[in-house]
Amino acid sequence: MSSFSDILHNTPPAHIPIWFMRQAGRVLPSYLKLRQQYSFMQLMQTPQLACDVTLLPINELNVDAAILFSDILVIPQALGLDLDFTEKGPVFENPLYKFDNPISVLKPNPEKLNFVYQAIDLIKNQKPNNIPLIGFCGGPLTVLLYMFEGLGTKSDFKNAERFIINNKQTTKQIVEIITEITLYYTKQQLIHGVDCFRLFESNCGNIPFSLYKELFLPSVKKVCDLVRSYNRKFLYFPKSIGLGITEITPDICDYLSIDWQTDIYSARKIVDKEINLEGNFDPRLLFGTKKTIQDEIKKYKQFSEENPLWIFNLGHGILPNTPFENAKLLVEEVKKLR
Ligand code: CP3
Repeated sequence: MSSFSDILHNTPPAHIPIWFMRQAGRVLPSYLKLRQQYSFMQLMQTPQLACDVTLLPINELNVDAAILFSDILVIPQALGLDLDFTEKGPVFENPLYKFDNPISVLKPNPEKLNFVYQAIDLIKNQKPNNIPLIGFCGGPLTVLLYMFEGLGTKSDFKNAERFIINNKQTTKQIVEIITEITLYYTKQQLIHGVDCFRLFESNCGNIPFSLYKELFLPSVKKVCDLVRSYNRKFLYFPKSIGLGITEITPDICDYLSIDWQTDIYSARKIVDKEINLEGNFDPRLLFGTKKTIQDEIKKYKQFSEENPLWIFNLGHGILPNTPFENAKLLVEEVKKLR
């Protein structure tokens, strides 16, 4: 058993399990080389290529888990939106904000997601036995924001935010449609054997938390219930949720991922004790010197002793141009911590 498998069975592992958000893309020289030959979409939608990329970081970074190489935006694609990944980020040809009746644009076709399950089958066959595979989907708010705005990474999602605030009823209906296909997608990933499941709500902070709680959190709970019904752990990453973490109850998730804005010791004091934590090294620190990185990791020593089931991760995705050597150093240092 690996440290990450131990965690999934509630056993305190010998060393701290570590993986990174965006561990396959962005820093791996082997990935960047593949990208000269294939587009991101080709890599993601060709099952054998997606399998190969999923497995790269296991050997090259020595992380303890593999995360499926895909994207949260395959759901809007399966709802009929035309998606392209450009230099500036994801772009939809017909973002929902352009339509008076956005619901009429949505044409769910779950079959469009089949390539993902084919990739999972290959990964399950080809990965080392002791390395768990993390399945994932996007959070309902994050997926909706991208569908609405259809812009790149710098988008501030103003149209979408104002729509949600002014059209609660229609928002609820769109969330229902996103949730239905997300549940189907999650279920298929579980059936095909992902070992745990993570929901990326990267834009949780884009609307007031009270509104998030009312319109979106019930949908997260449904995904959690489904994952638990397959006896797998559910990890939840509500980026920029702020003090909303105090309102996350054990019926929402098994693991709460803490972002880099939140001090992890403070988070531990206020998050329900039944929920384990994941996180939260600031990805910008990976641009520091070796000594900076080593000193920063030491700050987690006491935390690791007090929280034997903690999973080490970054507080958001690894940043573009992060020195590969520093990512490797981080893994080595974390494994020495206990
Ligand atoms: O973590 C992994 O290595 C697994 C694969 C994965 C990708 N995207 C691959 C990807 C995962 C888990 C995601 C999640 C994702 N996608 C999120 C949530 C996590 C987060 O970072 O907040 C979001 C918001 C997206 C949407 C998305 N996809 C954006 C905004 C972009 C463009 C900019 C960027 O972040 O790189 C993508 C493209 C994307 N998804 C790439 C990768 C490896 C880059 C594609 C390339 O190689 O050019």
